[in-house]
Amino acid sequence: MNIAANPMVEASQTIYLKDYQKPSFLVDAVELDIQVYADYTQVGATLKMQRQTAGDLVLLGRDLELKSIILNGTELSESDYQLDSEQLRIANAPDQVTLETIVIIHPESNTQLEGLYQASSDLFVTQNEPEGFRKITFYPDRPDVLSVFTTRVEADKKYPVLLANGNLLETGEAGEGRHYAIWQDPTKKPSYLFACVIGDLAVMKDHYVTSEGRNVALEIYAEEKDIPKCKIAMQALKHSMRWDEEHYGLPYDLDNYMIVATSAFNMGAMENKGLNIFNTSCVLADEEYTTDAAIMRVQSVIAHEYFHNWTGNRITCRDWFQLCLKEGLTVFRDQSFSEDLQSAAVQRIDDVAVLKAHQFPEDSGPLSHPPRPDHFVEINNFYTATVYEKGAEINRMMSTLLGKEKFRKGSDEYFRRHDGQAVTVEDWVNALSAGSGVDLSNFLTWYNQPGTPKLEVQGEYDAAAQVYRLNLKQSLKSNAKYPNLKALPIPVALALFNAETGEQYILQSEALVENSVKDGVYLFDQAQASIEFSGITAHPVVSLLRNFSAPVNLEFNYSNDELAFLMQHETNGFNQWQATQTLLERILLEEHAADTYLQAMKNTVPALIEKDPLLASRIFDVPSEGYLGSRIDQNYQPEKIQQQRNALLDTLARELGAFCKETYLSLDPDMQQDFSQAMGVRALKNIMLALMARQGDAKAFELAQQQYHTTRNMSERLGVLRVLVWNDAPQAKAALEDFYTRFKDEALALDQWFMVQASHPKATAETIQALTAHPDYDLGTPNRIRSVSGGLNSNPVNTWSFGVQHFIDLAKYLDEKNPIVGSRLLQVLSRWYTLAEPQRNQVQAALLNLQSVVKSKNVVETLNSMLEV
Ligand code: ARG
Ligand code: ZN
Repeated sequence: MNIAANPMVEASQTIYLKDYQKPSFLVDAVELDIQVYADYTQVGATLKMQRQTAGDLVLLGRDLELKSIILNGTELSESDYQLDSEQLRIANAPDQVTLETIVIIHPESNTQLEGLYQASSDLFVTQNEPEGFRKITFYPDRPDVLSVFTTRVEADKKYPVLLANGNLLETGEAGEGRHYAIWQDPTKKPSYLFACVIGDLAVMKDHYVTSEGRNVALEIYAEEKDIPKCKIAMQALKHSMRWDEEHYGLPYDLDNYMIVATSAFNMGAMENKGLNIFNTSCVLADEEYTTDAAIMRVQSVIAHEYFHNWTGNRITCRDWFQLCLKEGLTVFRDQSFSEDLQSAAVQRIDDVAVLKAHQFPEDSGPLSHPPRPDHFVEINNFYTATVYEKGAEINRMMSTLLGKEKFRKGSDEYFRRHDGQAVTVEDWVNALSAGSGVDLSNFLTWYNQPGTPKLEVQGEYDAAAQVYRLNLKQSLKSNAKYPNLKALPIPVALALFNAETGEQYILQSEALVENSVKDGVYLFDQAQASIEFSGITAHPVVSLLRNFSAPVNLEFNYSNDELAFLMQHETNGFNQWQATQTLLERILLEEHAADTYLQAMKNTVPALIEKDPLLASRIFDVPSEGYLGSRIDQNYQPEKIQQQRNALLDTLARELGAFCKETYLSLDPDMQQDFSQAMGVRALKNIMLALMARQGDAKAFELAQQQYHTTRNMSERLGVLRVLVWNDAPQAKAALEDFYTRFKDEALALDQWFMVQASHPKATAETIQALTAHPDYDLGTPNRIRSVSGGLNSNPVNTWSFGVQHFIDLAKYLDEKNPIVGSRLLQVLSRWYTLAEPQRNQVQAALLNLQSVVKSKNVVETLNSMLEV
């Protein structure tokens, strides 16, 4: 079925990787003069350019009002250039060009939050990745044009803070109550890394001395009242700087590093050179206002943006098809950082849970694409779980295979070869191969192919010969757009346990890869293979894909008892957790009985709570309804999944009975030495209380109310607010009112207030209606939209009933106002075609309807792909 409304229009706008051409001109230096006024901004630009190849001089520009243009001293008239809505083109330009332009732009009415925009009454910021700079001035706005930027920013003195990348050269008076600052960034960079900030903000200052002895001034800018909430971010920044020196040999290279927080931001944060701009949700962190999960996220995003300084900024992408070069590698780096911050196993559990909940469904539906796509209409649509998370997995696989030392030799070689360049995925894999001495070129297949491979494994034990054999087979679902799918190199980390004693065998097999990791790793790179282990004295239980060594769907015919065995005996915390998840998927999707799982929980949990409360809290994970739904490819009935899952939780609550109350009362987060275990205790307490409430224990509400009023910690407060609200406890209304009063001036905490209500298990269309009609609801703030929409979407029964219209209306409204966010929200409906009738038809009709009214490349491309199933 292909029902794309206007494939011609889309086809003509498609950009292909194979068409890449070098830019005809390079920019040696650029001077910007940005003058901000209340109702317009004037941008002057002087570009010193040099010809590189034959062809017209092409400058990209969108929504710019051109006032004047001077080439090598001569003012051009309209007949000297061609100007359309996307570019300015000059034919027969000389080889050396100095081009001066003046344009007028309107940040004060820019709702798309791209380019320069007014984020609040006291703040203007930029977001230029990937293609926002062309909304500021005419420029060869592409990542393979690197230049030295000098920026003059001028504004009214009611905005005391004037920032741009690099070093501050000069400040001064500009008359009529105005002032200016001039900044220069000595490092050559592409335009997407340019940033400037004009505003009235307070600042937290600190400093850091690099391994080379450079004293770096660190500054975090935020609203005055939020400055105390910047401590955790500042600590994380210093920690990241040290971590990159120790693990990759990469010190910071400028004398200052600035972070600016804004509540109006489309994404998480942006790595602009020396001047990161962050969504407040990824920088403000304080126990009283922020949940533990959000605090962990702040630390990982701070690290992520910092790590981009080398993987992204010093070495950047040749073109946007290579986005996963910088994002996949940087996510892998921030995940490794977070593994060092808390428990490595739990960090891995959380990262894999995200991968499976977002990337796997994306890759099995109509929006599936290779980590390095080969075509796109709107590159903003490709900041996806596949580019980021699957991109990270590819790097993790190569690192697992090489082991730490060789991986480091490979990355050293990459920085040695390519510092200061704009490169491709091939350059990365080649450098990694050359530096490590291991040929990794077949990993390029992972970058170039879509889809999650299926890995089918069978085990055979020959007791007489004491040999255990594994037969492996890999396959990919055929894909019309990618007809020649190749076998992928899949590192399979594995262990064998003696089923009788529970002890782990020391593996003897020539098939295993030699690396510095202590796990046995087998590199499976054929369509089929068999491997043998000798000296296996008693029947073994095999644990496969330890630590999730490859992003694949594993099929192995474990008995439920073997999975219960792994829950108790596996020493790899990740695979211990994975065993619970595999059991639960069988119970919830294949209607297996729950008894083995319940018994294994009773056997495992008490000791684990003593030993590792954080891991214990994850052992209680039950796959979400959304994730379970994504495992179903046709005739999906969200209500059925909901009933199954609720029934399982009811049984778990009943079976654990008194244990929940005892455990709740015995746990005290303040007794824990470190933050991560205290976080585990808080999570466990909330789980215990939720299970008590499920048993109908009225004491649960009393305890919840008590905890609500005695704690100062957001995870504790929000955990019990959920218990009260989601169970319609008599105390719920007062608690919600109290929460609102306490936090009405704290936007991020208020987001949680919206979210708790939107994700009420029995939320109705009226619930959502009331929330979106609330005076604090704001369609101009992506965080607030996401708090309600995300809450709604935590219940797929709602998503696929009244939620369909909710998401379609948002896409329609945001199509013009903020197409980046509009397109993202629409993606929630991408698996519509898996629904059972009549829902499937209804959603399809609604999507077709939307197709006739939307115009942005973002929403149109997403919608067309969604309908091409
Ligand atoms: N490079 C940023 C990061 O990953 C994300 C920027 C996304 N921007 C966008 N318009 N999609 O840290
Ligand atoms: Zn990034």
